[in-house]
Amino acid sequence: MTPAADAARRTGARRAVLLLPAGLALLAGLDAALLLLGLPAPVRADRLPQVHGVLMVLGFVGTLVALERAVALGRGWGYLSPGFLGAGGLLLISPADLRVGQSLLVLGTAVLLALYFRFWRRQPGPALLAQAAGAVAGLGAALLWLGGLDVPRLLPWLAAFLVLTIAGERLELARVAVLAPRTEQTFLACVAAVLTGTVATLLWPAPGTLLLAAALLALVAWLITYDVARRMLRARGLPRFSAACLLAGYAWLGLAGALWLIEGPITEGSRYDAVVHCVFLGFVISMIMAHAPVILPAVLRRPLPYRPVFAVPAWLLHLSLALRILVGDLRDSTSAWRVGGSLNIVAVLLFVVTAATLSVTAGAVRRPRPQPSETTR
Ligand code: HEM
Repeated sequence: MTPAADAARRTGARRAVLLLPAGLALLAGLDAALLLLGLPAPVRADRLPQVHGVLMVLGFVGTLVALERAVALGRGWGYLSPGFLGAGGLLLISPADLRVGQSLLVLGTAVLLALYFRFWRRQPGPALLAQAAGAVAGLGAALLWLGGLDVPRLLPWLAAFLVLTIAGERLELARVAVLAPRTEQTFLACVAAVLTGTVATLLWPAPGTLLLAAALLALVAWLITYDVARRMLRARGLPRFSAACLLAGYAWLGLAGALWLIEGPITEGSRYDAVVHCVFLGFVISMIMAHAPVILPAVLRRPLPYRPVFAVPAWLLHLSLALRILVGDLRDSTSAWRVGGSLNIVAVLLFVVTAATLSVTAGAVRRPRPQPSETTR
């Protein structure tokens, strides 16, 4: 192995260590999901169902986002963000006092915000502003949770964290097609409205939720119109797969906005399950599936070749979510909700196993064979 390849391998291994807590948070979150569905689960800790939501959003997805940002910054202190978020997630599922884990999540989101300030000094722009607004919402969610607010009331903050982070990344890519300044201003107006609506849900729940819902619908309309996804749908292979995941994700986010618009503040029951998972499974997990074959190799320095088999977990996710939400939640069928929810778990696990298998086997194929001179040394 050349020194450069060896250094890349060691860098990848160090980053994989930070990815491990995110993986454990995902597994614990899925175990908690089984318990919340009223089904048997491998681990039955009392606290798991209580922490499922924040564990998934900040412990799992938050760590992934922070790791990707830290890699992009390339400074040692940047890794404190995924480090704190990952450790915070692990402490949530440990017997330690809940406030210890909650405090680490506050630190992790605070460092993430600091990362964006650092990026801003390098290259300010509307995409970065949207991502920083997302980090403000993430920090707000972590602080409010530490302060004792229950998850249903701070849910808009968790949603805004990931929606704005992802929307900012999509704007970055849309700009490849050179957008008119007014188009970017419209995007920023949507971002500002999402953040304002999120804050307003705390103070005036009904009008705040209306504003948040309208802002999300406007953002979805912007994304569908200007994102490169619609054009990529005509391509083949990975671009087509990513485009399909992106457009399906926008549709689920649109449904979340519509539900909030029609129902107002929802904090419990089947409509709550629907709005939560339209955002986090339909939109966020679909976005992760769309970006994984591009982002994971950059972060882990391991190849992750695209194969058509990726479409299997993606189809399963969207079909099972349709069963869970459209039939289970919106038509009040408990069995459809339970079957759909269980298949959601299978879809997420299947995607992880598929990605891990393809990455490991691709690595094995590419590893150079030892030269005769090396084996005899
Ligand atoms: C993979 C399959 C999943 C299943 C079966 C599942 C199941 C559930 C259930 C049954 C609830 C309770 C809903 C209620 O109180 O009415 C819930 C809440 C929640 N879930 Fe999931 N979930 C899954 C994935 C996710 C993911 C990937 C995320 C985030 C990235 C997430 C975030 C949340 C949040 C934020 C809540 C609200 C928690 C609270 O109010 O305390 N879920 N989930």
